[in-house]
Amino acid sequence: MKKKILVTGGTGYIGSHTAVELINEGFDVLIIDNLYNSEKEVLDGIEKITGTRPYLEIFDICDNEKLIDFFSRNKDISAIIHFAAYKAVGESVRKPLNYYRNNLVSLINLLEAMKKYSVPNLVFSSSCTVYGQPEKLPVTEDAPLQPAASPYGNTKQVGEAIIRDTVSSDENIKAIALRYFNPIGAHPSALIGELPRGVPENLVPYITQTAYGLRDELKVYGNDYDTPDGYCIRDYLHVVDLAKAHVVAVKRLTEEKNKSGYEVFNLGTGNGVSVLEAIQAFERATGVKLKYKVVDRRPGDIEKIWANPSYANEELGWKTVSTLDEAMKTAWDWENHIRKK
Ligand code: UD1
Repeated sequence: MKKKILVTGGTGYIGSHTAVELINEGFDVLIIDNLYNSEKEVLDGIEKITGTRPYLEIFDICDNEKLIDFFSRNKDISAIIHFAAYKAVGESVRKPLNYYRNNLVSLINLLEAMKKYSVPNLVFSSSCTVYGQPEKLPVTEDAPLQPAASPYGNTKQVGEAIIRDTVSSDENIKAIALRYFNPIGAHPSALIGELPRGVPENLVPYITQTAYGLRDELKVYGNDYDTPDGYCIRDYLHVVDLAKAHVVAVKRLTEEKNKSGYEVFNLGTGNGVSVLEAIQAFERATGVKLKYKVVDRRPGDIEKIWANPSYANEELGWKTVSTLDEAMKTAWDWENHIRKK
């Protein structure tokens, strides 16, 4: 019997890539998504890649009645991977209550349903945003968490705390929080990828849309930071590498290989890359010249962060394999694919 994995937000960017990897590893994938920031046609891409169309129910998990109804009809779920959440830092500053309600009510509903329907395992989408600007780099999982710089970041910190407290109060529930650094790129088939609505907030979709001619130029937010070239530094990892870490986490929980009921892992490459180096990688990988201009710093941006991924490397046996250039190339292939459709 295939193990059933519930993926909330499974038609989104990271969720869809994870659904592919789960299916490839022999899991039965059930998706709940409200399609707030994704399209159900994403299932076509997943099906073309894997030969299997995952089961999808379209509703909002903040709606507890619908969630309870879902669990009463779908028994024997081995694990939940919880992606469904809002994720725009700037928007969260303007609409904090939307972020707290959406990201926290959904999580509480899920945890209550896990208790009620005896679902034992949870993998949670967390973020390096929980570290704020770390004092020591590369950052390790035991680094002190700084006060969150945005309501979005706070929902990830509070979300982790809610899960940790739930696990310590209930021995039947185990969880892994995965702290992502900056996921970029797309599936090498170019059949699934990131689909931002409107003007992208994140760097790589902005780069690919500019290169395609949809935007005039990339605005680079500041080159007067205290970094070797003055540009902000991040740890960009290929979304397929990131997706594979979720499969490893699910196996660790379902095969009871976890060391404690609640574990946290950094998911990054370990390499700090500046915005300028990211632009150069894009140009090198695609042969396309990018128009960009340096403007003021973006409020809320931290100067530099990159992961120490040793704990994930050793404990999960997971590490990134794709290069920055490969990730940029797949992001470009995907941009071309969606525009030509
Ligand atoms: C942020 C969050 C991260 C969250 C992610 C999802 C923090 C520290 N990080 O990542 O937790 O998961 O958003 O949306 O809160 N840049 C430009 N021009 C642009 C866009 C970006 O120069 O048009 C620069 C930024 O200044 C930054 C880098 O590119 O240095 C990456 O930015 P972005 O892709 O938005 O991700 P983060 O802000 O790092």
